[in-house]
Amino acid sequence: MSAQNLPPEGFQMLPGYFDRPNQEALVETLRAALHDAPLFLPVMPRTGKPFSVRMSNCGPLGWVSDIKGYRYQPTHPATGKPWPPIPQALLELWKDVAPDAPSPEACLINYYEPGTKMGLHQDKDEATFDAPVVSVSLGDTATFRIGGTSRGGKTSSMRLASGDVVVLGGDARLAYHGIDRILTGTSTLLKNGGRINLTLRRVTKP
Ligand code: SIN
Ligand code: FE2
Repeated sequence: MSAQNLPPEGFQMLPGYFDRPNQEALVETLRAALHDAPLFLPVMPRTGKPFSVRMSNCGPLGWVSDIKGYRYQPTHPATGKPWPPIPQALLELWKDVAPDAPSPEACLINYYEPGTKMGLHQDKDEATFDAPVVSVSLGDTATFRIGGTSRGGKTSSMRLASGDVVVLGGDARLAYHGIDRILTGTSTLLKNGGRINLTLRRVTKP
């Protein structure tokens, strides 16, 4: 068997896609969205063990995790209200990097306080894997780890800085990935430090 390429084919990293003024504008928009749809602390299915990061969403569907499982739903678990719309700048990003894909339906907002992380996982709760997963990093730099499509395989790691965009398409669409650590104090973008990651996804078959 030939060694698998890492990162897999279909992985794209676009360093500095958003410049500082555009990052600031995006943070302002997110502040308003998070006012309507506050960050919540998800817990793992079955065990109820809390995640390390807090989350919210925008878009017609949002990803949630609770004791019953992982799923997408149209409303915030605490407020019961629909999620706020996906910011225009993110819809334009999607058009730019995934011109052939149907429009995104979910934008997961992850907030990493200093000291938090995200274990290796696949994004596979969607009904279609044809569209890529597109993600934006804001704030402190993170160490991102990516492997192949089998658990326990080889991985490689890289740093994601504020404004960087990652695309998981093609063979990378179901690649294991996670965040090892947040490099505290590496960005002045967020008043209280830490990192925001935005993940755009198509959820349903078009
Ligand atoms: C995720 O996979 O949900 C987040 C990845 C990241 O924070 O860059
Ligand atoms: Fe993910």
